[in-house]
Amino acid sequence: MLAKKELQFNDYSRFLVNTYKRHSVNFISGNGIYLHDDQGRKYLDFLSGIAVTGFGHNHPKLVTAAVNQIMNLWHVSNLFESASQSELAAKLAEASGLSGVFFCNSGTEANEAAIKFARKYGKGRSTIITTLGSFHGRTMGSLSASAQFKLWDGFHPLTPGFKYVPYNDIEAVISSIEKDTVGIMVEPIQGESGIIIPDDDYLQHLSKICSENDILLILDEVQTGIGRTGKHFSYQWYDVQPDIVTSAKGIANGLPLGAVICSEKVADIIQPGMHGSTFGGNPVAVSAANMVMNLLDDEVLENIKLKGAILMRKISELNCDSVKEIRGKGLMIGVEFHKEVNAKEFSSKLLRNGVITTTAGENVLRLLPPYIITEENIDNFINVFAESLNDYIRINNQKLHS
Ligand SMILES: Cc1ncc(COP(=O)(O)O)c(C=O)c1O
Repeated sequence: MLAKKELQFNDYSRFLVNTYKRHSVNFISGNGIYLHDDQGRKYLDFLSGIAVTGFGHNHPKLVTAAVNQIMNLWHVSNLFESASQSELAAKLAEASGLSGVFFCNSGTEANEAAIKFARKYGKGRSTIITTLGSFHGRTMGSLSASAQFKLWDGFHPLTPGFKYVPYNDIEAVISSIEKDTVGIMVEPIQGESGIIIPDDDYLQHLSKICSENDILLILDEVQTGIGRTGKHFSYQWYDVQPDIVTSAKGIANGLPLGAVICSEKVADIIQPGMHGSTFGGNPVAVSAANMVMNLLDDEVLENIKLKGAILMRKISELNCDSVKEIRGKGLMIGVEFHKEVNAKEFSSKLLRNGVITTTAGENVLRLLPPYIITEENIDNFINVFAESLNDYIRINNQKLHS
């Protein structure tokens, strides 16, 4: 048996349930767009904890907000008033054009609550239409809403009450509506299935169908929200007003918080005892989120749009034959490769070369850098991306011809 001090993190990792295929890198500190591992290496973070740390690591104003709160009071039950929750709810209502907010701890919980609120609103109507390839979370309701069959394997029976249609297909939605339909739930941009951008009029069509049939338009903005695409919420690119919006990930820059933001007609039907959460809206997470909302001003939103456009342009100017498509909005970008490049292998290579990314869907490299990204950071990324890709292709060619 090794002495405790000699054990490395990977010796202990056998005690973790194997839900993630983890890279053997142990980050121990962060500063802005950079993370540092326990071997003294510095990494350029183009992942942001999967669209979470929008304002980077160790942002002084966020640290101060969270630390001040933690020193004062770090938990209070939702049985009591909370001025800071009310303040955050007002900010989210204003940013979204909606009126009532419920706080929870994560994206999947926000979607669970959205499903319950929709059913309550439906007074007996229960079916929610969702789209193939969607990802709404891992708990049973959200998992059942997520139409990715590989995620369901071994977890049946699913929660009933969902119908699945192809994404971006309005006719399929229309023909799926029945007397029992109460909601249509979509990601305005599908994240996990590969940064799939809808047609310009898709959300508007959905919105029209919803209002004509008294069906709720539920938008899962867990990944796309809180500035990620250059607007507070990505539906704001498409000039629609949803009935329910779910949010999490970037909302508290990494502290666990989720939110369901509802229109008045939905908020009005929810009464005490219908739903709740012990930890939801925790004071520390809410303090950080209030600061996130303060920081997310027009200048930052402009930076997200501008830097996203520059990043996409610079990748495209590399003219890589192996790149099939570059797509995205703001700082939510997918680079799809032809099959000679395996996005997962390439992402691991980037990591070895000091750049953190991830993948999504069919062979897509997913880039989610923080909103504080500079042009210099982009240039550094482009250099590593280009060199790593050349190297990847050279080694693959050698393997093919040996
Ligand atoms: C669109 C979307 N919805 C829901 C979730 C689930 O969020 P969480 O992991 O916080 O439960 C995710 C997570 O990736 C997501 O991208």
